[in-house]
Amino acid sequence: MKPVLKWAGGKSRLAGQIAEVFEGRCEGTYFEPFLGSAAVYLHLRARGLVGPAVLSDANAKLVEVHRAVQQRVDDVLAELERLPGEDWRERYYDIRESYNEGPFVGPAHAARLLWLNRAGYNGLYRENRQGRFNVPIGRYARLSLPDAAHFQRVSSLLEGAEIYHASFEDVMARAGGRDQVYCDPPYVPLTATACFTGYCGSPFGLVQQRRLAAIAREAALKGARVVLSNHDLPLVRDELYPSAQGFRHVARPRVARSISRGRRGRVAEVIAAIGPIQEVQAA
Ligand SMILES: C[S@@+](CC[C@H](N)C(=O)[O-])C[C@H]1O[C@@H](n2cnc3c(N)ncnc32)[C@H](O)[C@@H]1O
Repeated sequence: MKPVLKWAGGKSRLAGQIAEVFEGRCEGTYFEPFLGSAAVYLHLRARGLVGPAVLSDANAKLVEVHRAVQQRVDDVLAELERLPGEDWRERYYDIRESYNEGPFVGPAHAARLLWLNRAGYNGLYRENRQGRFNVPIGRYARLSLPDAAHFQRVSSLLEGAEIYHASFEDVMARAGGRDQVYCDPPYVPLTATACFTGYCGSPFGLVQQRRLAAIAREAALKGARVVLSNHDLPLVRDELYPSAQGFRHVARPRVARSISRGRRGRVAEVIAAIGPIQEVQAA
């Protein structure tokens, strides 16, 4: 089941491979702390591989879309109906403006973000320093949004899930025995950048990558199975998720990715897994 949102780094195409790494149904709670479009959760839930779930992301405006689709899908559909169709090109910047005025909660907010996600350039979600969405208009022949049946199906797959605005640390601390956790953080960059190494206010640099690896191991020691995606780089395999600490590198899918402006290439990704680690092993 495809998500209703397009999201940078979305895992629709890799969801089947990620599901295999979990090696079976989740008998406890499923956690996905870097939810994005929810592609992996929707795949697992549609196949009956997960039940109770805790879904979260640090982007509050995105989280409110998932909540609205979960709890008020008919209202979201009604709000989408009010947004431009044929004349979408002429109205793009007006809708972007009204989105930025808020409020950032409820069906009208969700509909505006979903609409901008389809009408904006490449489905990007980007904000300026003032927190204003600033993606320019997309180059599409026509505006195409998911249909009502698709929204209803996604809504029913989200039923019962706990959906939070949170940073990964807060949510992952809850994971333990029989739980499964899928982590899809912003990736380590392919080339070293000042932001990543900590010379600018990067929100997800090396410090966060290391903290995530440590928290994944803690959850594994409590009995959870944790699966993580990242770029397949020596830093990731050997320093962040080393075999010596119990990480397995179970797959190396290659996906077409935009590497830099206008340039596409094939970038290797690694899917790492850890846990459950038995106490005797941990000693
Ligand atoms: C690669 S995307 C996840 C894509 C997702 N797997 C999908 O299929 O759409 C990474 C996500 O991590 C979120 N994020 C960034 N920093 C975070 C943090 N500290 N804690 C939780 N989520 C964070 C971003 O908002 C973004 O949605």
